[in-house]
Amino acid sequence: MSIWHITGGSPLRGQIRVQGSKNAVLPVIAASLLCGAETELLNCPNLSDVDAAMDILRYLGCTAARCGDALCIDTTAPARCDIPRELMHRMRSSVIFLGPLLARFGEAEVSLPGGCELGPRPIDLHLHALRLLGAEIEEGEDSIVCRASHLRGAEISLALPSVGATENIMMAAVRAEGETVIQNAAREPEIEDLQTFLRKLGYGVSGAGSSTIRISGGCGCADHVPEGGPLERDCIAHRVIPDRIVAGTLLCAAAITGGEVTLCNAVPAHIASVMAKLRESGCSIRAEGDVIRIAAHARPREIKLIETLPYPGFPTDMQAQFFALCTVADGTSMIVENVFENRFKHGAELLRMGASF
Ligand code: UD1
Repeated sequence: MSIWHITGGSPLRGQIRVQGSKNAVLPVIAASLLCGAETELLNCPNLSDVDAAMDILRYLGCTAARCGDALCIDTTAPARCDIPRELMHRMRSSVIFLGPLLARFGEAEVSLPGGCELGPRPIDLHLHALRLLGAEIEEGEDSIVCRASHLRGAEISLALPSVGATENIMMAAVRAEGETVIQNAAREPEIEDLQTFLRKLGYGVSGAGSSTIRISGGCGCADHVPEGGPLERDCIAHRVIPDRIVAGTLLCAAAITGGEVTLCNAVPAHIASVMAKLRESGCSIRAEGDVIRIAAHARPREIKLIETLPYPGFPTDMQAQFFALCTVADGTSMIVENVFENRFKHGAELLRMGASF
């Protein structure tokens, strides 16, 4: 465990480049399994989850190497379609390998990802959708075995706009026979980034960013490769989008400390709901192109209501940072967490630091 010593009391000032998005790069790494060729992913953050995803690829028999912020991946000859427990448990979101493994091999065997500090993390929506695409799934105590020699397109209406389920369906459905339509799909920018990558691989995917995503599919066979896909080219390059949660976190840190910070390589449209709440707390924010400037000279004002929702609503991944901001703001703010049932654990730690709520 690493220990961080933080000396507080100084306004944050300066300019910083926002790194690539963790939640965008992970499904793109998993999707690279679909192409059976070389890919180069640019703007990849150097994080343990990314290392874990690369280790999964290596375990499967692919090559994966980092060079600065680029990942070079070759999925020409994966040798197996199972992911062992210790690798699944290193990264909660390893379940996004299920769809691409099933599409590539017609078979996948993974252990259950288990819960986490946010509470139980069910994958029922993922499994229900894969069954609709024709997969047979056996659920053991700690493992899932999926088989589908022939995937077929389906109309899938998600009970919740789950990010991971939407990604898994997209990645499995590109190899299904006929069209798949996902209704109530997650609309997060990371889904659009996955669509961009899948299109580069030659697959017909449209609608990401809206609640309806269409995947045109192939012949249903695991070895189907789209015309004009990567096998007919040298290497597919893809630049991962900037991390909207990192951008929001840096803005929040500036607001809390009364600082002045400039972010480069940001996408203001991806954090519109976050910037609106920071303005409500009294910060001045200007966005131009991929640059966002925040100035926070006074103590933050209370924020009447922060309610976490699927995108484009206020992100649950920004809730803890705003919780901290509200503890130093004037007046009383209200926070409602709608996405994860157990996401207030930071409150107990802030209490120990003198917060009142
Ligand atoms: C992704 C993000 C995570 C973010 C979350 C919500 C990645 C790698 N992680 O996680 O940072 O906090 O979106 O924006 O992109 N649910 C079910 N059944 C399922 C799947 C989900 O009930 O089969 C529920 C979850 O328990 C949760 C809600 O749906 O309450 C949203 O989860 P989901 O959108 O799937 O989150 P993740 O994809 O795991």
